[in-house]
Amino acid sequence: MDIGCGTGTDILLLAKWGFHRVVGLDVDGGAIGIARRRATRMRLASRATFIAGAAEDLEDHLAPSSVDVVLHTLVGNNLEDRYHAHFRSIARALKPRGLLVSCIRAWGYEENMGPGRVPPVAGMRRYFELSPGVSTHLAESGRAWPPHAPVVFWLGRPRKQRAAEESRRGRARGASRAPAPRGVARRRRAAPPAAGRPARSPPRTRRPARARSRRPG
Ligand SMILES: C[S@@+](CC[C@H](N)C(=O)[O-])C[C@H]1O[C@@H](n2cnc3c(N)ncnc32)[C@H](O)[C@@H]1O
Repeated sequence: MDIGCGTGTDILLLAKWGFHRVVGLDVDGGAIGIARRRATRMRLASRATFIAGAAEDLEDHLAPSSVDVVLHTLVGNNLEDRYHAHFRSIARALKPRGLLVSCIRAWGYEENMGPGRVPPVAGMRRYFELSPGVSTHLAESGRAWPPHAPVVFWLGRPRKQRAAEESRRGRARGASRAPAPRGVARRRRAAPPAAGRPARSPPRTRRPARARSRRPG
């Protein structure tokens, strides 16, 4: 399954490579429409399902523990809210031995941190046991500055029990949209620099300890 599949490029490639059943989900209904038309053109529609909706509402579309692998590429940078519901829902949909493959773009002070030091977005660690994180570079030449952006990549194993319990409790309160657990701050990632805008000098000092404590877990 590809969360934030856009127009389905990756998921259709996986189907073409022989994956028997692939699912793409995206909040952008227009992109999902394109993905479905591409699947039909590529004669892959019988094996590729596309869902227009938010990952936070996966429970409406998929049975729990039904997915082997979730791709989550650069979606964390797009999340504005509902971080915990987002990752709880993904953890719930994955099989107990399922795998999350996730990457996010590092911004601002994070660009100077070692890959193992860049924290995942809120909620990810709560619902997934994560690898330490490795970084690579995303070529953004001509679209943004700097031309090569650091991207941090994690593998995650779902914390099934926590996701199931919290999901049950949330639904009992009628609140899959419940606020984040107490003491967990929501944080918006900084917007990417506008295309062509020169990069600001990277910060030379370490991030102050006070700001670090605001980072959600
Ligand atoms: C940077 S794009 C990544 C596209 C694709 N994964 C790729 O690698 O080309 C992020 C995508 O995530 C989708 N998205 C953002 N928030 C989402 C959410 N809460 N649930 C599902 N999709 C979401 C956006 O509509 C967008 O298509």
